[in-house]
Amino acid sequence: MDKKKYGDRFSRYLFIDEELGLQLDISRIKFTDSFFKDMEPKMKLAYTRMQELEKGAISNPDENRMVGHYWLRNPEIAPDRSIAVEISQTIESVKRFTKDIHMGKIRGEKGRLFENLLVIGIGGSSLGPRFIAEALGSDRNILQPYFLDNTDPDGIDRVLSHLEDELDKTLVIVVSKSGGTIETRNSMEEVKYFYSLKNLNFAKHAISITQPGSLLASISRKEEWLMGFPMWDWIGGRTSVLSAVGILPLALQGINIDLLLEGAKRCDELTRKENTSENPSALLALMWYTSTGGQGGKQMVMLPYKDRLELLAKYLQQLIMESLGKELDLDGKVVRQGIAVLGNKGSTDQHSYLQQLLEGPDNFFVTFIEVLQDREGISPIIAEKSTSGDYLHAFLLGTREALTTKGRESLTITIQKIDEFSLGVLLALFERAVSFYAFLVNINAYHQPAVEMGKKGAREIIKMKNQILSFLQSNQGKRYTILELAHNIDREEDMESLYKILLHLVNNPGHEVKREKNTGENNPFKDLFWSN
Ligand code: PA5
Repeated sequence: MDKKKYGDRFSRYLFIDEELGLQLDISRIKFTDSFFKDMEPKMKLAYTRMQELEKGAISNPDENRMVGHYWLRNPEIAPDRSIAVEISQTIESVKRFTKDIHMGKIRGEKGRLFENLLVIGIGGSSLGPRFIAEALGSDRNILQPYFLDNTDPDGIDRVLSHLEDELDKTLVIVVSKSGGTIETRNSMEEVKYFYSLKNLNFAKHAISITQPGSLLASISRKEEWLMGFPMWDWIGGRTSVLSAVGILPLALQGINIDLLLEGAKRCDELTRKENTSENPSALLALMWYTSTGGQGGKQMVMLPYKDRLELLAKYLQQLIMESLGKELDLDGKVVRQGIAVLGNKGSTDQHSYLQQLLEGPDNFFVTFIEVLQDREGISPIIAEKSTSGDYLHAFLLGTREALTTKGRESLTITIQKIDEFSLGVLLALFERAVSFYAFLVNINAYHQPAVEMGKKGAREIIKMKNQILSFLQSNQGKRYTILELAHNIDREEDMESLYKILLHLVNNPGHEVKREKNTGENNPFKDLFWSN
Protein backbone atom coordinates (compact mmCIF):
# COMPACT_ATOMS: atom_id res chain seq x y z
CA MET A 1 0.00 0.00 0.00
CA ASP A 2 1.26 3.44 -0.89
CA LYS A 3 0.48 5.30 2.34
CA LYS A 4 1.29 8.69 0.86
CA LYS A 5 -1.12 8.14 -2.02
CA TYR A 6 -3.95 7.19 0.35
CA GLY A 7 -3.08 10.10 2.66
CA ASP A 8 -3.43 12.50 -0.29
CA ARG A 9 -6.73 10.96 -1.37
CA PHE A 10 -7.98 11.09 2.23
CA SER A 11 -7.42 14.82 2.61
CA ARG A 12 -8.70 15.50 -0.89
CA TYR A 13 -11.93 13.55 -0.69
CA LEU A 14 -12.88 13.53 3.00
CA PHE A 15 -16.40 14.86 3.46
CA ILE A 16 -16.95 16.70 6.77
CA ASP A 17 -20.01 18.37 8.20
CA GLU A 18 -19.23 19.64 11.69
CA GLU A 19 -22.80 20.66 12.45
CA LEU A 20 -24.21 17.22 11.80
CA GLY A 21 -21.13 15.60 13.33
CA LEU A 22 -20.73 13.55 10.17
CA GLN A 23 -17.69 12.52 8.15
CA LEU A 24 -17.46 10.27 5.11
CA ASP A 25 -14.15 8.94 3.89
CA ILE A 26 -14.38 7.54 0.37
CA SER A 27 -10.64 7.58 -0.35
CA ARG A 28 -10.26 3.81 -0.06
CA ILE A 29 -12.69 3.08 -2.89
CA LYS A 30 -10.80 2.76 -6.15
CA PHE A 31 -12.40 5.44 -8.29
CA THR A 32 -10.32 7.35 -10.80
CA ASP A 33 -9.75 11.10 -10.69
CA SER A 34 -12.13 11.61 -13.60
CA PHE A 35 -14.91 9.49 -12.05
CA PHE A 36 -17.01 12.35 -10.65
CA LYS A 37 -16.78 14.29 -13.89
CA ASP A 38 -17.76 11.22 -15.90
CA MET A 39 -20.75 10.58 -13.64
CA GLU A 40 -21.96 14.19 -13.61
CA PRO A 41 -24.62 13.77 -16.36
CA LYS A 42 -26.14 10.77 -14.55
CA MET A 43 -26.00 12.62 -11.23
CA LYS A 44 -27.70 15.68 -12.73
CA LEU A 45 -30.55 13.44 -13.80
CA ALA A 46 -30.63 11.80 -10.35
CA TYR A 47 -30.90 15.23 -8.67
CA THR A 48 -33.75 16.21 -10.96
CA ARG A 49 -35.60 12.98 -10.27
CA MET A 50 -35.02 13.33 -6.55
CA GLN A 51 -36.54 16.84 -6.72
CA GLU A 52 -39.53 15.45 -8.59
CA LEU A 53 -39.92 12.63 -6.05
CA GLU A 54 -39.90 15.09 -3.16
CA LYS A 55 -42.44 17.25 -4.96
CA GLY A 56 -44.85 14.31 -5.13
CA ALA A 57 -44.21 12.70 -8.53
CA ILE A 58 -45.45 9.12 -8.97
CA SER A 59 -42.03 7.66 -8.22
CA ASN A 60 -43.43 4.16 -7.70
CA PRO A 61 -45.10 3.77 -11.11
CA ASP A 62 -46.00 0.07 -10.66
CA GLU A 63 -48.19 0.86 -7.71
CA ASN A 64 -49.06 4.32 -8.97
CA ARG A 65 -47.85 5.84 -5.72
CA MET A 66 -46.03 8.93 -4.53
CA VAL A 67 -43.00 8.29 -2.34
CA GLY A 68 -43.19 10.53 0.68
CA HIS A 69 -40.89 9.39 3.45
CA TYR A 70 -38.86 12.60 3.18
CA TRP A 71 -41.96 14.61 4.15
CA LEU A 72 -42.25 12.81 7.49
CA ARG A 73 -39.43 14.85 9.01
CA ASN A 74 -40.40 18.06 7.29
CA PRO A 75 -44.15 18.14 6.62
CA GLU A 76 -43.85 21.60 5.07
CA ILE A 77 -42.33 20.14 1.92
CA ALA A 78 -45.23 17.72 1.36
CA PRO A 79 -46.83 18.43 -2.03
CA ASP A 80 -50.27 18.78 -0.58
CA ARG A 81 -51.45 20.76 2.42
CA SER A 82 -53.68 17.94 3.66
CA ILE A 83 -50.70 15.53 3.74
CA ALA A 84 -48.65 18.05 5.72
CA VAL A 85 -51.47 18.46 8.22
CA GLU A 86 -51.91 14.69 8.58
CA ILE A 87 -48.21 14.20 9.29
CA SER A 88 -48.08 16.99 11.88
CA GLN A 89 -51.29 15.87 13.54
CA THR A 90 -50.03 12.30 13.76
CA ILE A 91 -46.79 13.42 15.41
CA GLU A 92 -48.82 15.48 17.89
CA SER A 93 -51.20 12.63 18.63
CA VAL A 94 -48.26 10.21 19.12
CA LYS A 95 -46.84 12.65 21.66
CA ARG A 96 -50.18 13.16 23.43
CA PHE A 97 -50.89 9.45 23.60
CA THR A 98 -47.35 8.74 24.85
CA LYS A 99 -47.73 11.36 27.58
CA ASP A 100 -51.05 9.83 28.66
CA ILE A 101 -49.44 6.41 28.89
CA HIS A 102 -46.37 7.66 30.73
CA MET A 103 -48.45 9.71 33.18
CA GLY A 104 -50.77 6.77 33.81
CA LYS A 105 -53.85 8.50 32.39
CA ILE A 106 -54.29 5.46 30.16
CA ARG A 107 -53.75 2.19 31.99
CA GLY A 108 -54.22 -1.56 31.51
CA GLU A 109 -57.58 -3.20 32.08
CA LYS A 110 -56.83 -3.79 35.76
CA GLY A 111 -55.64 -0.25 36.27
CA ARG A 112 -51.91 -0.94 36.21
CA LEU A 113 -49.35 1.41 34.69
CA PHE A 114 -48.01 0.24 31.33
CA GLU A 115 -44.38 -0.89 31.63
CA ASN A 116 -43.86 -3.06 28.53
CA LEU A 117 -44.38 -2.66 24.84
CA LEU A 118 -44.91 -5.56 22.48
CA VAL A 119 -44.50 -4.57 18.83
CA ILE A 120 -45.94 -7.05 16.34
CA GLY A 121 -44.93 -6.49 12.71
CA ILE A 122 -42.51 -7.78 10.09
CA GLY A 123 -40.04 -6.41 7.55
CA GLY A 124 -40.38 -2.66 7.24
CA SER A 125 -42.99 -2.73 9.97
CA SER A 126 -40.37 -3.94 12.46
CA LEU A 127 -36.73 -3.59 11.41
CA GLY A 128 -36.33 0.20 11.61
CA PRO A 129 -38.03 0.64 14.99
CA ARG A 130 -36.16 -2.38 16.33
CA PHE A 131 -32.78 -1.05 15.18
CA ILE A 132 -33.36 2.32 16.87
CA ALA A 133 -34.93 0.74 19.98
CA GLU A 134 -31.85 -1.41 20.42
CA ALA A 135 -29.39 1.39 19.61
CA LEU A 136 -30.91 3.84 22.10
CA GLY A 137 -32.33 1.48 24.69
CA SER A 138 -31.18 1.63 28.28
CA ASP A 139 -32.23 0.69 31.78
CA ARG A 140 -33.98 4.08 31.75
CA ASN A 141 -36.51 2.88 29.15
CA ILE A 142 -39.94 4.04 30.28
CA LEU A 143 -41.63 1.15 28.50
CA GLN A 144 -39.51 -1.92 27.83
CA PRO A 145 -39.80 -2.93 24.15
CA TYR A 146 -40.28 -6.50 22.88
CA PHE A 147 -40.76 -7.52 19.25
CA LEU A 148 -42.57 -10.35 17.47
CA ASP A 149 -41.72 -10.49 13.76
CA ASN A 150 -42.42 -14.02 12.62
CA THR A 151 -44.86 -16.89 12.80
CA ASP A 152 -42.48 -19.18 14.71
CA PRO A 153 -44.43 -20.68 17.62
CA ASP A 154 -41.32 -21.23 19.73
CA GLY A 155 -40.12 -17.68 18.96
CA ILE A 156 -43.50 -16.37 20.09
CA ASP A 157 -43.30 -18.45 23.31
CA ARG A 158 -39.82 -17.15 23.99
CA VAL A 159 -40.94 -13.51 23.89
CA LEU A 160 -44.24 -14.12 25.69
CA SER A 161 -42.46 -15.96 28.50
CA HIS A 162 -41.03 -12.58 29.55
CA LEU A 163 -44.52 -11.09 29.68
CA GLU A 164 -46.37 -13.99 31.28
CA ASP A 165 -47.23 -12.15 34.50
CA GLU A 166 -47.09 -8.69 33.02
CA LEU A 167 -49.77 -8.77 30.37
CA ASP A 168 -51.89 -6.14 32.03
CA LYS A 169 -48.84 -3.85 32.06
CA THR A 170 -48.12 -4.55 28.39
CA LEU A 171 -49.18 -2.35 25.51
CA VAL A 172 -49.38 -4.26 22.22
CA ILE A 173 -48.81 -2.39 18.96
CA VAL A 174 -49.81 -4.29 15.82
CA VAL A 175 -48.12 -2.76 12.77
CA SER A 176 -49.04 -3.64 9.22
CA LYS A 177 -49.42 -1.21 6.36
CA SER A 178 -51.45 -3.67 4.29
CA GLY A 179 -53.20 -4.95 7.40
CA GLY A 180 -53.22 -8.50 6.05
CA THR A 181 -49.68 -9.85 6.50
CA ILE A 182 -49.89 -13.48 7.63
CA GLU A 183 -46.97 -13.53 10.06
CA THR A 184 -48.30 -10.42 11.79
CA ARG A 185 -51.87 -11.74 11.86
CA ASN A 186 -50.65 -15.03 13.38
CA SER A 187 -48.60 -13.38 16.13
CA MET A 188 -51.52 -11.07 16.87
CA GLU A 189 -53.90 -14.03 17.19
CA GLU A 190 -51.45 -15.89 19.44
CA VAL A 191 -51.09 -12.84 21.65
CA LYS A 192 -54.88 -12.35 21.77
CA TYR A 193 -55.22 -15.97 22.85
CA PHE A 194 -52.54 -15.44 25.51
CA TYR A 195 -54.49 -12.47 26.91
CA SER A 196 -57.69 -14.54 26.94
CA LEU A 197 -55.92 -17.32 28.89
CA LYS A 198 -55.16 -14.71 31.55
CA ASN A 199 -58.77 -13.48 31.49
CA LEU A 200 -57.69 -10.14 30.10
CA ASN A 201 -59.32 -8.17 27.32
CA PHE A 202 -56.71 -7.81 24.53
CA ALA A 203 -58.53 -4.82 23.01
CA LYS A 204 -57.90 -2.75 26.14
CA HIS A 205 -54.16 -3.13 25.60
CA ALA A 206 -53.98 -2.97 21.81
CA ILE A 207 -53.07 -0.29 19.28
CA SER A 208 -53.02 -0.61 15.51
CA ILE A 209 -50.85 1.17 12.96
CA THR A 210 -52.19 0.52 9.49
CA GLN A 211 -53.63 2.04 6.32
CA PRO A 212 -57.17 3.32 6.68
CA GLY A 213 -59.56 0.78 5.21
CA SER A 214 -57.31 -2.24 5.80
CA LEU A 215 -58.46 -5.47 7.43
CA LEU A 216 -56.45 -4.60 10.54
CA ALA A 217 -58.11 -1.17 10.68
CA SER A 218 -61.52 -2.77 10.61
CA ILE A 219 -60.62 -5.40 13.25
CA SER A 220 -59.26 -2.75 15.59
CA ARG A 221 -62.34 -0.57 15.10
CA LYS A 222 -64.79 -3.44 15.53
CA GLU A 223 -63.06 -4.76 18.65
CA GLU A 224 -62.67 -1.22 20.03
CA TRP A 225 -58.93 -1.26 20.51
CA LEU A 226 -57.36 1.42 22.67
CA MET A 227 -56.14 3.49 19.73
CA GLY A 228 -55.28 3.44 16.03
CA PHE A 229 -52.60 5.39 14.14
CA PRO A 230 -52.41 5.80 10.36
CA MET A 231 -49.92 4.46 7.87
CA TRP A 232 -50.19 6.11 4.50
CA ASP A 233 -50.22 4.82 0.97
CA TRP A 234 -47.29 7.07 0.07
CA ILE A 235 -44.95 5.51 2.66
CA GLY A 236 -43.19 2.22 1.90
CA GLY A 237 -42.69 -0.27 4.75
CA ARG A 238 -38.89 -0.11 4.69
CA THR A 239 -38.90 3.68 4.82
CA SER A 240 -41.59 3.95 7.48
CA VAL A 241 -39.40 4.20 10.56
CA LEU A 242 -40.08 7.93 10.96
CA SER A 243 -43.85 7.55 10.54
CA ALA A 244 -46.05 6.36 13.42
CA VAL A 245 -44.58 2.88 12.74
CA GLY A 246 -41.33 3.95 14.41
CA ILE A 247 -42.02 7.11 16.33
CA LEU A 248 -44.88 5.66 18.40
CA PRO A 249 -42.99 2.69 19.90
CA LEU A 250 -39.82 4.74 20.23
CA ALA A 251 -41.58 7.61 22.01
CA LEU A 252 -43.27 5.12 24.34
CA GLN A 253 -39.86 3.62 25.07
CA GLY A 254 -38.72 7.09 26.13
CA ILE A 255 -36.70 8.08 23.09
CA ASN A 256 -36.70 11.72 21.99
CA ILE A 257 -38.46 11.55 18.62
CA ASP A 258 -38.08 15.28 17.98
CA LEU A 259 -34.31 14.88 17.88
CA LEU A 260 -34.55 11.79 15.71
CA LEU A 261 -36.76 13.64 13.21
CA GLU A 262 -34.51 16.69 13.40
CA GLY A 263 -31.39 14.64 12.59
CA ALA A 264 -33.10 13.15 9.53
CA LYS A 265 -34.44 16.54 8.42
CA ARG A 266 -31.02 18.17 8.68
CA CYS A 267 -29.41 15.32 6.74
CA ASP A 268 -32.11 15.65 4.07
CA GLU A 269 -31.31 19.37 3.78
CA LEU A 270 -27.62 18.63 3.45
CA THR A 271 -28.17 15.91 0.87
CA ARG A 272 -30.35 18.11 -1.31
CA LYS A 273 -27.17 19.89 -2.39
CA GLU A 274 -26.50 19.28 -6.03
CA ASN A 275 -22.78 19.69 -5.77
CA THR A 276 -21.85 16.03 -5.39
CA SER A 277 -18.69 16.57 -3.34
CA GLU A 278 -20.85 18.31 -0.69
CA ASN A 279 -23.54 15.64 -0.66
CA PRO A 280 -22.67 12.55 1.41
CA SER A 281 -25.69 10.47 0.24
CA ALA A 282 -24.78 11.14 -3.39
CA LEU A 283 -21.17 10.25 -2.60
CA LEU A 284 -22.26 7.00 -0.97
CA ALA A 285 -24.45 6.08 -3.93
CA LEU A 286 -21.61 6.82 -6.32
CA MET A 287 -19.20 4.70 -4.28
CA TRP A 288 -21.71 1.81 -4.39
CA TYR A 289 -21.98 2.36 -8.10
CA THR A 290 -18.27 2.34 -8.87
CA SER A 291 -17.42 -0.47 -6.47
CA THR A 292 -20.16 -2.81 -7.69
CA GLY A 293 -19.75 -1.83 -11.35
CA GLY A 294 -23.26 -0.39 -11.22
CA GLN A 295 -24.55 -3.96 -11.32
CA GLY A 296 -24.21 -5.35 -7.81
CA GLY A 297 -20.90 -7.01 -8.61
CA LYS A 298 -19.75 -6.66 -5.01
CA GLN A 299 -21.35 -7.16 -1.62
CA MET A 300 -21.62 -4.46 1.01
CA VAL A 301 -20.16 -5.57 4.35
CA MET A 302 -21.35 -3.31 7.17
CA LEU A 303 -18.93 -3.04 10.07
CA PRO A 304 -20.10 -0.66 12.77
CA TYR A 305 -17.66 -0.69 15.67
CA LYS A 306 -20.34 -0.28 18.31
CA ASP A 307 -22.53 -2.88 19.99
CA ARG A 308 -25.52 -0.57 19.85
CA LEU A 309 -25.37 -0.59 16.06
CA GLU A 310 -25.46 -4.36 15.73
CA LEU A 311 -28.87 -4.29 14.03
CA LEU A 312 -27.82 -1.63 11.52
CA ALA A 313 -26.73 -4.27 8.99
CA LYS A 314 -30.03 -6.11 9.36
CA TYR A 315 -31.98 -2.89 8.89
CA LEU A 316 -29.87 -1.87 5.88
CA GLN A 317 -30.09 -5.35 4.44
CA GLN A 318 -33.81 -4.83 3.98
CA LEU A 319 -33.65 -1.16 3.03
CA ILE A 320 -31.04 -1.80 0.36
CA MET A 321 -31.84 -5.30 -0.88
CA GLU A 322 -35.63 -4.95 -1.05
CA SER A 323 -35.25 -1.53 -2.69
CA LEU A 324 -32.46 -2.25 -5.15
CA GLY A 325 -32.92 -5.97 -5.84
CA LYS A 326 -34.92 -5.72 -9.07
CA GLU A 327 -35.14 -7.83 -12.21
CA LEU A 328 -36.41 -5.08 -14.48
CA ASP A 329 -35.47 -1.45 -14.84
CA LEU A 330 -37.98 1.35 -15.32
CA ASP A 331 -37.97 0.76 -19.07
CA GLY A 332 -38.84 -2.91 -18.61
CA LYS A 333 -35.35 -4.13 -19.53
CA VAL A 334 -33.97 -7.16 -17.63
CA VAL A 335 -31.16 -5.78 -15.45
CA ARG A 336 -31.14 -7.97 -12.30
CA GLN A 337 -29.93 -5.19 -10.06
CA GLY A 338 -29.13 -5.38 -6.36
CA ILE A 339 -26.38 -5.10 -3.77
CA ALA A 340 -26.10 -7.85 -1.15
CA VAL A 341 -25.64 -6.51 2.39
CA LEU A 342 -24.22 -8.42 5.34
CA GLY A 343 -22.43 -7.74 8.61
CA ASN A 344 -22.87 -7.37 12.35
CA LYS A 345 -20.33 -5.39 14.31
CA GLY A 346 -16.65 -4.85 14.94
CA SER A 347 -14.48 -5.95 16.45
CA THR A 348 -16.54 -9.14 16.97
CA ASP A 349 -16.67 -9.88 13.23
CA GLN A 350 -12.88 -9.72 13.05
CA HIS A 351 -13.03 -13.07 14.83
CA SER A 352 -15.51 -14.59 12.41
CA TYR A 353 -15.29 -13.68 8.71
CA LEU A 354 -12.52 -11.09 8.47
CA GLN A 355 -10.12 -13.89 7.53
CA GLN A 356 -12.03 -14.39 4.28
CA LEU A 357 -12.33 -10.67 3.61
CA LEU A 358 -8.56 -10.41 3.77
CA GLU A 359 -7.59 -13.57 1.94
CA GLY A 360 -10.68 -14.82 0.09
CA PRO A 361 -12.39 -13.52 -3.04
CA ASP A 362 -12.35 -9.78 -3.56
CA ASN A 363 -16.15 -9.60 -3.94
CA PHE A 364 -17.13 -6.95 -1.38
CA PHE A 365 -16.50 -3.48 -0.05
CA VAL A 366 -16.63 -2.69 3.65
CA THR A 367 -18.53 0.20 5.22
CA PHE A 368 -17.00 1.02 8.57
CA ILE A 369 -19.02 3.04 11.05
CA GLU A 370 -16.77 4.89 13.46
CA VAL A 371 -18.36 6.38 16.59
CA LEU A 372 -16.10 8.93 18.21
CA GLN A 373 -17.51 8.89 21.74
CA ASP A 374 -16.73 5.60 23.50
CA ARG A 375 -19.15 5.95 26.41
CA GLU A 376 -20.61 8.58 28.75
CA GLY A 377 -17.83 9.43 31.21
CA ILE A 378 -14.26 8.36 31.70
CA SER A 379 -12.98 4.88 30.85
CA PRO A 380 -10.44 3.06 32.99
CA ILE A 381 -7.00 2.26 31.62
CA ILE A 382 -6.92 -1.45 30.88
CA ALA A 383 -3.50 -2.16 29.34
CA GLU A 384 -0.73 -0.45 27.36
CA LYS A 385 -1.94 2.93 28.74
CA SER A 386 -5.17 2.37 26.79
CA THR A 387 -8.89 2.08 27.47
CA SER A 388 -11.25 -0.52 25.97
CA GLY A 389 -12.46 2.21 23.64
CA ASP A 390 -8.89 2.93 22.49
CA TYR A 391 -8.64 -0.74 21.58
CA LEU A 392 -11.99 -0.78 19.76
CA HIS A 393 -10.87 2.22 17.74
CA ALA A 394 -7.47 0.64 17.10
CA PHE A 395 -9.18 -2.50 15.80
CA LEU A 396 -11.24 -0.41 13.39
CA LEU A 397 -8.23 1.51 12.07
CA GLY A 398 -6.07 -1.61 12.01
CA THR A 399 -8.66 -3.55 10.00
CA ARG A 400 -9.10 -0.68 7.54
CA GLU A 401 -5.36 -0.60 7.02
CA ALA A 402 -5.14 -4.38 6.63
CA LEU A 403 -7.92 -4.37 4.02
CA THR A 404 -6.24 -1.59 2.05
CA THR A 405 -2.91 -3.44 2.19
CA LYS A 406 -4.66 -6.42 0.63
CA GLY A 407 -6.18 -4.20 -2.07
CA ARG A 408 -9.71 -4.45 -0.62
CA GLU A 409 -12.04 -1.43 -0.78
CA SER A 410 -13.65 0.30 2.18
CA LEU A 411 -15.64 3.38 3.15
CA THR A 412 -15.74 4.97 6.57
CA ILE A 413 -18.68 6.89 8.02
CA THR A 414 -17.91 8.74 11.23
CA ILE A 415 -20.48 10.01 13.72
CA GLN A 416 -19.95 11.79 16.98
CA LYS A 417 -21.90 9.53 19.28
CA ILE A 418 -24.94 7.29 19.46
CA ASP A 419 -27.90 9.53 20.14
CA GLU A 420 -31.25 10.37 18.59
CA PHE A 421 -29.86 13.14 16.39
CA SER A 422 -27.01 11.11 14.86
CA LEU A 423 -29.26 8.10 14.27
CA GLY A 424 -31.73 10.37 12.48
CA VAL A 425 -28.81 11.56 10.33
CA LEU A 426 -27.76 7.96 9.58
CA LEU A 427 -31.30 6.91 8.62
CA ALA A 428 -31.66 9.77 6.17
CA LEU A 429 -28.12 9.34 4.84
CA PHE A 430 -28.85 5.76 3.76
CA GLU A 431 -32.46 6.33 2.65
CA ARG A 432 -31.28 9.05 0.30
CA ALA A 433 -28.27 7.04 -0.91
CA VAL A 434 -30.72 4.29 -1.88
CA SER A 435 -32.87 6.79 -3.80
CA PHE A 436 -29.84 8.20 -5.63
CA TYR A 437 -28.51 4.75 -6.47
CA ALA A 438 -31.91 3.68 -7.82
CA PHE A 439 -31.95 6.74 -10.07
CA LEU A 440 -28.39 5.99 -11.24
CA VAL A 441 -29.37 2.47 -12.34
CA ASN A 442 -32.89 3.46 -13.43
CA ILE A 443 -34.94 1.15 -11.23
CA ASN A 444 -38.05 1.48 -9.07
CA ALA A 445 -36.74 1.27 -5.49
CA TYR A 446 -40.19 1.47 -3.96
CA HIS A 447 -41.97 -1.70 -4.94
CA GLN A 448 -41.23 -5.37 -4.14
CA PRO A 449 -42.98 -7.42 -6.82
CA ALA A 450 -41.14 -10.69 -6.10
CA VAL A 451 -42.07 -10.81 -2.40
CA GLU A 452 -45.58 -11.90 -3.41
CA MET A 453 -44.20 -15.11 -5.00
CA GLY A 454 -43.15 -16.63 -1.66
CA LYS A 455 -46.49 -15.68 -0.10
CA LYS A 456 -48.39 -17.27 -2.98
CA GLY A 457 -46.32 -20.44 -2.59
CA ALA A 458 -47.13 -20.58 1.12
CA ARG A 459 -50.86 -20.21 0.47
CA GLU A 460 -50.70 -23.16 -1.92
CA ILE A 461 -48.87 -25.30 0.69
CA ILE A 462 -51.52 -24.52 3.34
CA LYS A 463 -54.18 -25.54 0.83
CA MET A 464 -52.36 -28.82 0.13
CA LYS A 465 -51.93 -29.51 3.87
CA ASN A 466 -55.66 -29.08 4.42
CA GLN A 467 -56.43 -31.41 1.51
CA ILE A 468 -54.19 -34.19 2.88
CA LEU A 469 -55.51 -33.76 6.41
CA SER A 470 -59.11 -33.91 5.34
CA PHE A 471 -58.38 -36.98 3.20
CA LEU A 472 -56.59 -38.78 6.06
CA GLN A 473 -59.28 -37.83 8.54
CA SER A 474 -62.02 -39.18 6.37
CA ASN A 475 -60.08 -42.44 6.02
CA GLN A 476 -59.00 -42.80 9.65
CA GLY A 477 -56.60 -45.60 10.51
CA LYS A 478 -55.90 -46.47 6.88
CA ARG A 479 -52.20 -46.29 5.90
CA TYR A 480 -51.00 -44.63 2.69
CA THR A 481 -47.73 -44.08 0.85
CA ILE A 482 -47.02 -40.63 -0.53
CA LEU A 483 -47.79 -41.90 -4.01
CA GLU A 484 -51.20 -43.17 -2.93
CA LEU A 485 -51.96 -39.94 -1.11
CA ALA A 486 -50.82 -37.85 -4.06
CA HIS A 487 -53.00 -39.87 -6.35
CA ASN A 488 -56.04 -39.58 -4.06
CA ILE A 489 -55.87 -35.83 -3.75
CA ASP A 490 -54.75 -35.28 -7.30
CA ARG A 491 -51.32 -33.91 -6.45
CA GLU A 492 -48.99 -36.27 -8.30
CA GLU A 493 -46.77 -33.31 -9.27
CA ASP A 494 -46.19 -32.35 -5.65
CA MET A 495 -44.81 -35.53 -4.03
CA GLU A 496 -41.84 -33.77 -2.42
CA SER A 497 -43.99 -31.04 -0.85
CA LEU A 498 -46.49 -33.68 0.31
CA TYR A 499 -43.72 -35.64 2.02
CA LYS A 500 -42.42 -32.52 3.76
CA ILE A 501 -45.89 -31.43 4.85
CA LEU A 502 -46.62 -34.88 6.30
CA LEU A 503 -43.29 -35.04 8.12
CA HIS A 504 -44.07 -31.67 9.68
CA LEU A 505 -47.55 -32.83 10.72
CA VAL A 506 -46.12 -36.02 12.25
CA ASN A 507 -43.71 -33.99 14.34
CA ASN A 508 -46.33 -31.72 15.88
CA PRO A 509 -49.14 -32.76 18.21
CA GLY A 510 -52.63 -31.62 17.35
CA HIS A 511 -53.03 -32.94 13.82
CA GLU A 512 -52.74 -36.61 14.90
CA VAL A 513 -50.84 -37.78 11.84
CA LYS A 514 -48.64 -40.86 12.28
CA ARG A 515 -45.83 -42.32 10.22
CA GLU A 516 -44.34 -45.75 9.82
CA LYS A 517 -40.90 -45.56 8.32
CA ASN A 518 -40.23 -48.19 5.69
CA THR A 519 -37.38 -50.36 6.89
CA GLY A 520 -36.12 -51.54 3.53
CA GLU A 521 -34.59 -49.20 0.98
CA ASN A 522 -33.97 -45.55 1.85
CA ASN A 523 -36.94 -44.21 -0.06
CA PRO A 524 -39.10 -41.67 1.80
CA PHE A 525 -41.93 -42.21 -0.66
CA LYS A 526 -42.36 -45.74 0.73
CA ASP A 527 -43.11 -44.51 4.30
CA LEU A 528 -46.69 -44.99 5.44
CA PHE A 529 -48.87 -42.21 6.86
CA TRP A 530 -52.27 -42.29 8.56
CA SER A 531 -54.45 -40.36 10.92
CA ASN A 532 -56.17 -41.68 14.05
O1 PA5 B 1 -40.79 -2.77 3.08
C1 PA5 B 1 -41.80 -3.39 2.82
O2 PA5 B 1 -42.68 -2.93 2.07
C2 PA5 B 1 -42.06 -4.76 3.42
O3 PA5 B 1 -40.94 -5.24 4.06
C3 PA5 B 1 -43.22 -4.68 4.41
O4 PA5 B 1 -42.90 -3.78 5.42
C4 PA5 B 1 -43.51 -6.04 5.03
O5 PA5 B 1 -43.79 -6.96 4.02
C5 PA5 B 1 -44.70 -5.97 5.98
O6 PA5 B 1 -45.83 -5.50 5.33
P1 PA5 B 1 -47.05 -4.89 6.10
O7 PA5 B 1 -46.59 -3.67 6.82
O8 PA5 B 1 -48.06 -4.60 5.06
O9 PA5 B 1 -47.51 -5.94 7.09
